Amino acid sequence: MEKSFTAMVIDNVGGQTRGGFRKITMGELPDYDVLVEVAYSTLNYKDGLAITGKGRIARRTPMIAGVDLAGTVVESRSPKWREGDKVVLNGWGLSETEWGAYVRYQRVKPEWLIPLPNGFSMLEAMAVGTAGYTSALCVDALERWGIAKPGKGEVIVTGAAGGVGSVAVALLSAQGYIVTASTGRPETRDYLASLGATGFIDRADLLEKGPPLQKERWTGAIDSVGSTTLVNLLAQTVRGGAVVACGLAGGADLNGTVFPHILRSVALIGVDSVVAPIEQRLAAWKRLERDLDKSKLRMMTTVEPMSRLPQLAEDIVAGRIRGRVVIDVASI
Ligand SMILES: NC(=O)c1ccc[n+]([C@@H]2O[C@H](COP(=O)([O-])OP(=O)(O)OC[C@H]3O[C@@H](n4cnc5c(N)ncnc54)[C@H](OP(=O)(O)O)[C@@H]3O)[C@@H](O)[C@H]2O)c1
Repeated sequence: MEKSFTAMVIDNVGGQTRGGFRKITMGELPDYDVLVEVAYSTLNYKDGLAITGKGRIARRTPMIAGVDLAGTVVESRSPKWREGDKVVLNGWGLSETEWGAYVRYQRVKPEWLIPLPNGFSMLEAMAVGTAGYTSALCVDALERWGIAKPGKGEVIVTGAAGGVGSVAVALLSAQGYIVTASTGRPETRDYLASLGATGFIDRADLLEKGPPLQKERWTGAIDSVGSTTLVNLLAQTVRGGAVVACGLAGGADLNGTVFPHILRSVALIGVDSVVAPIEQRLAAWKRLERDLDKSKLRMMTTVEPMSRLPQLAEDIVAGRIRGRVVIDVASI
């Protein structure tokens, strides 16, 4: 086992956090019970914010970035895991309060890990990553609310060409929902159609604030954009429908009215993947195992070496990444 390895580390320089590569030794890793050799990580919007310093993600420094990992257990002081087990970790504060995944080896708590889901290679599990597993949590939330049955009304996905959006489109269409994709990139329409979207709207249509109650259109919505987009979605959702909010790519504000809720019984459901309980995680991965077409997953995925993280971080924050990016942590 190597004694030192390269990590993407967030440091605080003169009050500004920013990521850069540096060597970490085995002895510096946290004293948690399971040592994992990381095969792949991913690029999520939050990783982009952490590395560029455009969002306050790392709560302490130095902090190793990266919120997702797939790898193999190398040592375990926990009865839950044995050397050789293939595992996945999504969230749990990695890159915020706990050292993250952009590193060859990491020590983690046993309860943060789940077994590599059935039918997924480590690369495929990271092609899903936090973004994709969050999409599954969102679809689960819509179904728990009881939105109209598949085929009985439109479900809209915003930020559709991004990571959460791409997987959400694929999962919803696999269940038979009529999916409308909202995107600011018209050149991605063929891509989104191949994932299962049948309707398209320009994201600009949702960026201008409209009346508090608008023409009822969506039986459900999965929103990774927030702000005025979210307010408009609520105003356009049918009586008894639901909007799941999981992101803020367009802004964190929510300046709307209660009218959709009190006059149309529209629900606003929040999803937080980071500390979701284990049963919800396993259910979400079960949905991914069942509904995510592997050829669609391949279509939305690119694999990049860890050395490209600084540029990729800029790209995802600027909304230039299509679909999902797997990070090969050994390539540095
Ligand atoms: N709640 C959770 O647990 C959780 C988990 C994962 C992610 N998230 C959040 O979900 C969001 C999406 O994450 P992601 O990894 O999918 O990121 P992503 O791949 O960058 O996708 C975000 C998409 O949003 C759209 N967008 C970007 N900037 C916009 C703007 N200014 N106005 C309107 N639309 C904009 C773009 O889609 P188009 O080009 O198609 O318009 C972009 O591809 C982020 O805010 C992230 O923090 C939350």
